[in-house]
Amino acid sequence: MKATAIANANIALVKYWGKRNADLILPHNGSVSMTCDGLQTRTTVEFAPEYSQDVLVINDEEMRKDEKDIMGHMERIRKMAGLKEHAKMVSETNFPIAAGLASSASGLAALTLAATKASGLSLGERELTILTRMGSGSACRSIVEGFAEWRRGEKEDGSDSYAETIAPKSHWPDFRIIATILTEKKKAVGSRAGMAQTVKTCPYYKEWLSTVNEDIRSVKKGIQERDFTLVGETAEFNCLKMHATMMTTKPPIVYWIPETLDVIHWTRAMRESGTPCYFTIDGGPQVKVMCLEKDLKSLDKELNTLDSVLKTVVCRPGDGAVLTDRHIF
Ligand code: DP6
Repeated sequence: MKATAIANANIALVKYWGKRNADLILPHNGSVSMTCDGLQTRTTVEFAPEYSQDVLVINDEEMRKDEKDIMGHMERIRKMAGLKEHAKMVSETNFPIAAGLASSASGLAALTLAATKASGLSLGERELTILTRMGSGSACRSIVEGFAEWRRGEKEDGSDSYAETIAPKSHWPDFRIIATILTEKKKAVGSRAGMAQTVKTCPYYKEWLSTVNEDIRSVKKGIQERDFTLVGETAEFNCLKMHATMMTTKPPIVYWIPETLDVIHWTRAMRESGTPCYFTIDGGPQVKVMCLEKDLKSLDKELNTLDSVLKTVVCRPGDGAVLTDRHIF
């Protein structure tokens, strides 16, 4: 009753921000992402009678309170499998958690795959993305390989709100995202609480929703045709629109720090001087710079000379979640 899974984080090119159903985690809009090979979580789950309660350890630290209600997610899986035993869950990430590098996405994806396997369930990929979605929305995209789309779906039970690969990693192997780490501090507002507040109070939320489908179409077309300019321009503008809704939430959610703006301006300056690159930012201060392999070395080197940048992690299109025998305990 022990299993271990590895999942990669994903970075959204068209963002998810807002739920129409918070219990099932059904989004107001669809989203598109790239599963990143550089940002990984490995999780071992064991169900056993000796555990009197569920225990979660992330990067050697026992978690007592979790924004993502991981315990509720485990309860759901236990019910599905008809199990009574509690579980020990131990997770390791190779990047700082809760600072806007999508750690919850890789974490929930690895946990869901490991827990379903350890509990004896065997789900197909689509079912696994649906179950993962109920743990954390963006995590469903980390189950699948390469470039992923999470469909909004229409049904009330969420059975058509799943993630799937729209292009495998081999389709565009020279697409790169340089994730900058500008601070290792935990962010003040989690994405779950933040997006709920935006839906409730942002006067521009409807406008955001009215433009997302067009962004999805453009980014998908750009990916299919490997049109870097189309993907970059659409993703960058989509990110700014999402942050505009965050900033116009009551109370305002401002994830950016001065270093964030530094890297935004740097990216635009690089582009103006002839090197194609675009930025995107999630629910945190870190900036992710999209580029092509041919420009990676020079851009990454330059970024690392900026005072604002502590370090960078380079991501290429990566694999979906997989099981492994390398248990943590
Ligand atoms: C800004 O998936 O973390 O990263 O569904 O409440 O767990 P929950 O939220 P989460 O939100 C991610 C928001 C985002 C955009 C994105 O990844 O699409």
